[in-house]
Amino acid sequence: MNNDIIQSLYDRKSVRVYEDRPVEEDVKQAVLAAAIQAPTAGNMALYTILDITDQDIKEKLSHSCDNQPFIATAPVVLIFCADYRRWYSVFRAQDEHTRAPGMGDLFLAQADAIIAAQNAVVAAQSLGLGSCYIGDITEHFEYHQRLLKLPQYVVPAVMLCMGYPTMQQREREKPRRFETADLVHENGYDEEKAAAMHRMLSGLWSLTGDALDERLRRFRLRKWDSAFSEEMSRSCAAMAKHWCGNPEEQKETL
Ligand SMILES: Cc1cc2nc3c(=O)[nH]c(=O)nc-3n(C[C@H](O)[C@H](O)[C@H](O)COP(=O)(O)O)c2cc1C
Repeated sequence: MNNDIIQSLYDRKSVRVYEDRPVEEDVKQAVLAAAIQAPTAGNMALYTILDITDQDIKEKLSHSCDNQPFIATAPVVLIFCADYRRWYSVFRAQDEHTRAPGMGDLFLAQADAIIAAQNAVVAAQSLGLGSCYIGDITEHFEYHQRLLKLPQYVVPAVMLCMGYPTMQQREREKPRRFETADLVHENGYDEEKAAAMHRMLSGLWSLTGDALDERLRRFRLRKWDSAFSEEMSRSCAAMAKHWCGNPEEQKETL
């Protein structure tokens, strides 16, 4: 079954090289307006979108987000932050004994932010823009907090780079996906399906035997046993600790 929307989901792929021309302001505003049409828990919009227009900040992000130079060349850089600050400040203004945001609120706000980001991705695609998520924005929390002036109850969830794709990027093949049936379990987690990971990888990478093993080894070293992923775990733990920190200490800024 197919239609225009489903086809656009199949056609979308990450774009990391952009034409050297700006994204028109009305196009960017259309993407931002579409982002906030996303579903949001309780219609609370538990996020803030940082529109990074300062080249110096883009350069800094290109280093702090695992040294990815294309971030500095992206005409549009958006950081979707989980944000409970606005709501907590009005709750607290009504009742100073109201509870402080906890981990559940952080998870919910992260979900809100990421769902809005995906709306932006789909909207951008429909307007001829290419985009790429940058998960590394959750690394170096303390640095990003200072760089982006993030107060308590505002933490980065994902970053998006956007711009018009070069011809090479338009023609680049989209990476294959796992099979739907391998990722969908009926009525509960199916350990047997999960145990088929080697077969799933063999299909994804079109490799078998030693070649598959070697590809998996290299993938593990790049994506798992790597400095960036250790830093991401450290940084996210610091983020969670900060989020759940004593609001009394932050009171004067709320
Ligand atoms: C949460 C998240 C974080 C990502 N972080 C990065 C990143 O830091 N750098 C990058 O080049 N791509 C990043 N990507 C893009 C993925 O690598 C890409 O979506 C994946 O390889 C599938 O390719 P496709 O998007 O072209 O279909 C990220 C994607 C997601 C969803």
